[in-house]
Amino acid sequence: MYENIILDKRGGVAVITINRPDKLNALNIPTRTDIVNVLDELKYDNETRVVVFTGAGEKSFIAGADISEFEGRTVNDQLRAMTERNAFQAVGDFPKPAIAMINGFCLGGGCELALACDIRIASEKAKFGQPEINLGIIPGGGGTQRLARLVGEGVAMQMILTGDMITAQQAKEIGLVNEVVAADQLETRTMEIANKIAEKSPIALQMAKESVKSAQRMNLREGLEMEIQRFCICFSSEDKEEGVKAFLEKRKPTFKGR
Ligand code: COA
Repeated sequence: MYENIILDKRGGVAVITINRPDKLNALNIPTRTDIVNVLDELKYDNETRVVVFTGAGEKSFIAGADISEFEGRTVNDQLRAMTERNAFQAVGDFPKPAIAMINGFCLGGGCELALACDIRIASEKAKFGQPEINLGIIPGGGGTQRLARLVGEGVAMQMILTGDMITAQQAKEIGLVNEVVAADQLETRTMEIANKIAEKSPIALQMAKESVKSAQRMNLREGLEMEIQRFCICFSSEDKEEGVKAFLEKRKPTFKGR
């Protein structure tokens, strides 16, 4: 069904593996199309509550856009390739929580895909960078926008203008990743976080995610008003009744997404 990704549904967590290991999982057009399509599928799949992105093989999460597609490409062709099936936008707009499980090179479009996720967990072997400048181009999947918002303009500028790679530990220090773990613990730790989130009310998760993301688009007053509206929307759900009841009855809640 998909050409370059593997979809593995593990209960409430859908793991999407970019599967071009001999090209270090570089994002060519079919792969980006797969990402857009799988997210369309998972958006409406009630069972899936969280998605996790990772890369096949030991070496790389995603080593960026597939550079071989750039040769000889015209402005129009490039515009079409970037806007028609925009995987970065599909990840950024995905309504359910998305986690990047970063197992190796996380470069260019790979870093941008991770930035479009909500949480980033990295192996201590991971390397991060926006090396587009070395090709005479700039990040085009949100790197100049999301990276600067996450780590601050000065640090983002240095990464984008030099094209230099940084280590997982440096990525943690600048706030680019949430956690760095030993390579053999990456999957365990990421799935632990994903499973914990998957147990929450999917309605509350969506409201929480949208509210936090609103902060990028709204001023504080608008954002606070939006937060109250979304808070109150949760009061229309059976999950809120269940959550409150379970607390009062001193038991674990079972959220059904209603
Ligand atoms: N696009 C297309 N192919 C890529 C690629 C990319 N972004 N990144 C790696 N590959 C391919 C290589 O061409 C090579 O293919 P080959 O075996 O057919 O020659 C294969 O993946 C393995 O990569 P290689 O360069 O041999 O591995 P390495 O360990 O020596 O170096 C990197 C790893 C990540 C430092 C290096 O591959 C690299 O710089 N990649 C490009 C990163 C980049 O600029 N990304 C932003 C693109 S806008």
